Amino acid sequence: MANTLTITDNRTGKQYEVPIADGAIRATDLKQIKSDADDPGLITYDPAFMATAACKSKITFIDGDKGILLYRGYPIEQLAESSTYLETAHLILFGELPTAAQLKTWTHDITMHTMVHENIKKFMEGFTYDAHPMGVFISTVGAMSTFYPDGKLIFDQQSRMKQIHRLIAKTPTIAAYAFRHSIGRPYVYPDNDLSFTGNFLNMLFKMTEVKYKPNAALERALDVLFILHADHEQNCSTSSMRAIGSSHVDPFSALAGAAAALYGPLHGGANEAVLRMLKEIGSVDHIPAFIKKVKAGEGRLMGFGHRVYKSYDPRAKIIKRTAYEVFDVTGKNPLLDIALELERIALEDDYFISRKLYPNVDFYSGLIYQAMGFPVEMFAVLFAIARTVGWVAQWEEMLLDSEQKIARPRQIYEGHTTRDYVPMAKR
Ligand SMILES: CC(C)(COP(=O)(O)OP(=O)(O)OC[C@H]1O[C@@H](n2cnc3c(N)ncnc32)[C@H](O)[C@@H]1OP(=O)(O)O)[C@@H](O)C(=O)NCCC(=O)NCCS
Repeated sequence: MANTLTITDNRTGKQYEVPIADGAIRATDLKQIKSDADDPGLITYDPAFMATAACKSKITFIDGDKGILLYRGYPIEQLAESSTYLETAHLILFGELPTAAQLKTWTHDITMHTMVHENIKKFMEGFTYDAHPMGVFISTVGAMSTFYPDGKLIFDQQSRMKQIHRLIAKTPTIAAYAFRHSIGRPYVYPDNDLSFTGNFLNMLFKMTEVKYKPNAALERALDVLFILHADHEQNCSTSSMRAIGSSHVDPFSALAGAAAALYGPLHGGANEAVLRMLKEIGSVDHIPAFIKKVKAGEGRLMGFGHRVYKSYDPRAKIIKRTAYEVFDVTGKNPLLDIALELERIALEDDYFISRKLYPNVDFYSGLIYQAMGFPVEMFAVLFAIARTVGWVAQWEEMLLDSEQKIARPRQIYEGHTTRDYVPMAKR
């Protein structure tokens, strides 16, 4: 017999059998539960979607208690060890690791789309010199919808794939242009002889040399960071991508919205906030006073805690290792000592232990990015490049899911009941 939930409505004395499948009941099955004929039926109240699954997905699995993260079944640790960002992107998007021939075609398809229209360059020149690169990134990705009107053909598989190629290939170019713009250096065109991350480093850091040669260790470290950030199931920005995409808008507009969600300090802006916090703490001696303030509710320990992970974020472990590999090349980031001591103290403190607050992916990533020469303002942009594949994969899965419709949550109305308009003189 199938699993069911028996609900007794004390208002009416009626009993209902609601099926349970995959550990969930369908919220719409509750609609039949009514106190009387005029009742529209029971709904669920779940601010911030703490216990609501809004979709079925085959892409990413997280077990937050055990600290497990899988892309299409493959553990993140194995992908970070052995895969590349483009190979992982193929896995996330198509469901399988590519064969050698598939990877060659996929790499070629992405590489052929790295250039942006010259007018995009001009458009980006319009921003002030101190414009935040994430603001520039969001606006430019949104503007891409005007350059590629075929993006509207979302139910044409070939067109959809073309926009996906464009988005994965052009986001690094846009990000690099946003960076060069902020430091007043000329834009560098993509070099398609280089790898995905090698070319990105070229567009960021090339000076007068004829051919830019990326440092192999830094190129690999950035690739690993991109793998770690490629998808993370139904987080705030991905849910935004799905919700916006559910209106059937083009993927450039939807992705601009997802990137905007990522910009917030509780999401992709967290590693920027971590660095600011470490700078503000200033030295190891100031840590106890800082922890005291956090425990008193005056601010948060940024880079700690996660909605889903209630143990050590598996990505944070890999990042910590990568940090040392980067520091071998760049020299140690002086803020590392503060971070390590902060982590040590927090992991022994009952406040953090009892709330299951552990370092998340952002705790160490900012230190690496800074050591590699990125200003803090670029951190969320780097996250957005990596997450682009997750966003488009989840967007496509949503579009092809026959159970999905335009996202439209319900509300519990607490405002006034009907009342008559009061003329100005009588208010
Ligand atoms: C990620 C985050 C938004 C998740 O929040 P959440 O699941 O809504 O958790 P809550 O805000 O309900 O927090 C639960 C408790 O832990 C505390 N808490 C959560 N994160 C904390 C942090 N980083 N520092 C101090 N206390 C924290 C809350 O104050 C709350 O305590 P209380 O029960 O005494 O009120 C939150 O942990 C946070 O703000 N972290 C810092 C920002 C960050 O690193 N974000 C990157 C995420 S990848």
